[in-house]
Order: sequence, then C-alpha cells, then structure tokens
Amino acid sequence: MTNRTPFVGGNWKMNTDATTGNALARALASGLDTSGGVEVAIYPPFVYLSSISQSLAGSDISLGAQDAYHEPSGAFTGEISLDMLKDCGVRSVLTGHSERRHVIGENDTIVNKKTRAVLASGLQVVLCIGETLDQRESGKTDAINEHQTRAGLEGVSRDQLSRVVIAYEPVWAIGTGKTATPEDAQNAHARIRELIATMYDQNAADAIRIIYGGSMKPGNAGELMAMPDIDGGLIGGASLVSDDFLSIIRSSVAQGV
Ligand code: 13P
Repeated sequence: MTNRTPFVGGNWKMNTDATTGNALARALASGLDTSGGVEVAIYPPFVYLSSISQSLAGSDISLGAQDAYHEPSGAFTGEISLDMLKDCGVRSVLTGHSERRHVIGENDTIVNKKTRAVLASGLQVVLCIGETLDQRESGKTDAINEHQTRAGLEGVSRDQLSRVVIAYEPVWAIGTGKTATPEDAQNAHARIRELIATMYDQNAADAIRIIYGGSMKPGNAGELMAMPDIDGGLIGGASLVSDDFLSIIRSSVAQGV
C-alpha cells in the first residue's frame, strides 16, 4: 500500500474578478486547516495571479495557472510564458484541460509540448484527460484515456513524473451536474494507473496521484475519494464557493486517500 498525499485543485476557469477572487483566496487561506494531510492548489485567471499570490501569502495553498505557453519568449501575441508565471508565484500548471482541447482546439501535440515545458521549468503539471459523451457511449473511455495519457507524457522522464498529477475529467461530467459513479471513476483510474506501470514502472504507478474532476461537490466528494485509486479532485464550480471547496478538501483528508 502506498500512501499518496491527496491533491485537491480549484480551477476557477474564466470566473471571479479582482475583488471576489482575492476575497475567495483569503477565505481559503484562513479556512484551510489540514495539517499537511492534503496538497491544495488554486488556478485563478492569469491577470489575478500576482495579487492572489499576496492573498495566499503564508498559507499552504499553492498558486497555479490554467495554461501556459511552451515557448520561453518571443513573438507569441497573447501568450504567457512559464517564467512569467513563476514571477507571479505560480508553482503548478494545468495542461490538456478539456476546455482547452475541445473549446480552444488544442491537440495532443500542443498538450505534450506544454506538459514538457512545465516540467522542464521545474513546476508541477496537472495533465487533464478524459472522454466525451460520444466516446463514452461507444465504449472508448479507456482507449481515450490511454491515448491522451501516452500522448501527454511522451518524452516525460521517470524523474519528472514525480511532479505530474493526472486529472481524469470525463468531458460529459464537467459543469453538467452529472458525475461519474464512484465505481466507474475508480475503474477508469485503475486502468490509468496500470498504464503508468506499463509506461514507467510499478513504483511510479503506485506513487502518482490520479484525481477526478467533473461536478465534484461536497455531497459526492467523500464517496469518490474513498475509492482506492482516486487521490483527490480537480474542482470547477464548487471551488468558487469557499465553504464548498474547504468541505471537499476536508473530505479528501478524511478519506486518507
Ligand atoms: P466542474 O467541477 O464545474 O464540473 O468543473 C470540473 C473541471 O473542469 C475542473 O477542471
């Protein structure tokens, strides 16, 4: 049995403003009481990262970014580099989020470039994967997860893997109020862990955190995170309400994932 520290991330997406974002960060910083039993990160919009870094000062919550560009600098209008994010206090970056893949149009090659760039910069990456409803209904969940995991981690070394968290987020469950059953999510997570053992080795598979995302909320977080291969959550809507997010964090510690 390995003892993986649960990971709970709050992906704010394109929500909040300077006032509400900082108020939320301060409420989380003062409300978090986990004695190190869980790793917590929040992913606010880029433009609030610097000020939110101040609001989190002295707390155990890490600051994360929802995206990053893989090139270090240059003529990439509108993009944000990893050094810029580090300047703002960022320690963790999401890659491959379903909204980046399916709304913005990022493909596997881009997701892999970003994942490798984040790791090369020394930061943590949360690589998001997951199937659409059509793919699920045609029985392709595990195949899609395998494809996106292999493509996302191509060229990622065994050493770098210790800074990778995988977020399984079935696209049909994101923001819809529909959640995978704990058993379905557990099956998907177990397959992903087996795949990591094949790609790397059993110790790597035992150590990597695989978290669930998709309409996780206080009412279902406990049963999801009680599953042996679900090591935490990536939370959208419920991470915008401090009491809900703190409650989910407490569930993760209580489950001793
Ligand atoms: P919801 O929790 O709003 O479904 O969003 C999940 C998500 O996309 C987190 O990255």
